Amino acid sequence: MFDVLPQLAPDPILGLSAAYKKDPNPNKIDLGVGVYKDEQGNTPIVSAVAKAARRLIETETSKTYITPQGVQGFIDNMLTLILGQSHPALLADRVAAVQAPGGCGALRILAELLTRVNKDLTVWVSDPTWANHIPLIGNAGLAIKTYPYFDKDSASIKFDAMIDALKTIPKGDVVLFHGCCHNPTGGDLTQEQWCEVLAVTQQQGFLPFFDIAYQGFGDGLDTDAYAVRLFVETLPEVIIAASCSKNFGLYRERVGLAAIVGETSAVKTIAQSQIQSVARGIYSMPPSYGGALVDIILSDAELKQEWINEVDEMRERMKSLRGLLANALNSNQDKQDFEFVNQQKGMFSYLCISPEQVRAMRDQHSVYFVDSSRVNIAGINQNNVERLAEALIAVL
Ligand code: LMR
Repeated sequence: MFDVLPQLAPDPILGLSAAYKKDPNPNKIDLGVGVYKDEQGNTPIVSAVAKAARRLIETETSKTYITPQGVQGFIDNMLTLILGQSHPALLADRVAAVQAPGGCGALRILAELLTRVNKDLTVWVSDPTWANHIPLIGNAGLAIKTYPYFDKDSASIKFDAMIDALKTIPKGDVVLFHGCCHNPTGGDLTQEQWCEVLAVTQQQGFLPFFDIAYQGFGDGLDTDAYAVRLFVETLPEVIIAASCSKNFGLYRERVGLAAIVGETSAVKTIAQSQIQSVARGIYSMPPSYGGALVDIILSDAELKQEWINEVDEMRERMKSLRGLLANALNSNQDKQDFEFVNQQKGMFSYLCISPEQVRAMRDQHSVYFVDSSRVNIAGINQNNVERLAEALIAVL
């Protein structure tokens, strides 16, 4: 039966890991999948998570089903983490939310919910956006269009073009924004630019959809939530997909949050019932484990502080790696200025080189990253930065 289907190429991001593993070069460098790595190239379990896991083993008394919305303590704590303590939308009981299997699960169930509102609805995504946004949203049946975002030639955000495009988007459409640490470019809007985007959103009346998967990796947990908080404070309706993969290092446990801010508490109640029914129709209820760990951490002042310190440490390390790479590149050549790497935020940067140059990096130098030229900054370390810079200079 399945022979009628074509064999597909490997996933553009996940496929890189397999190619990297196969490469026998002992000096190979992996800057592919967005996973945090320490100086030794390992992705250790965040220590607050390890402590929470021990506590969970000692206290969990049953493996019976959890509720369809997931671990309620997780949901409450995550909403506070994203929106801030005492956010007016929370006080007004306007936020429906479910624990989701990862940020991907959250994106997909929100996309499915949108098809229930209008199956012909269009979602606008930034050009470029995270490659997996397209199947996650498109496979739910929604149309996807793009708005200009990043200019590879100048390695900067095309803000004017973005605003002009947003001004053409009608009420009834949905616009996906990256809350912080834009994936794949690392180019984030300033707070002033977010205010302009908010004004256009208000004027046009389209629905903002925030994907916030890297909270804490840009400027800090609160600063990174600036745009989401601002939009939720000002607008009647906003939807949010959040991930705990990166900032809690819970990648394989698949834990995220899907939230709908409704205009009133009554709308919230409707949205809550709908989103639970969407989840029930796909996977019934989320796995409890990751959510339970996050709940334990965020409910305990000491553990929470330990986790915040670890997020701060990951962020500061990635910032210093940006400086290291920009320096190694700029002090050794004058073909291209890479100072922009130092200005960008989060886990990724576009190196703004061509797909041919990216492939030459892979084939001739065993340096692996996405064809778009997106690199995972956390894959850089003191031992590989010089080799990485030499390889890049060689392919320029
Ligand atoms: C990435 O962008 O590399 C990560 O979010 C992993 C993924 O699923 O693509």
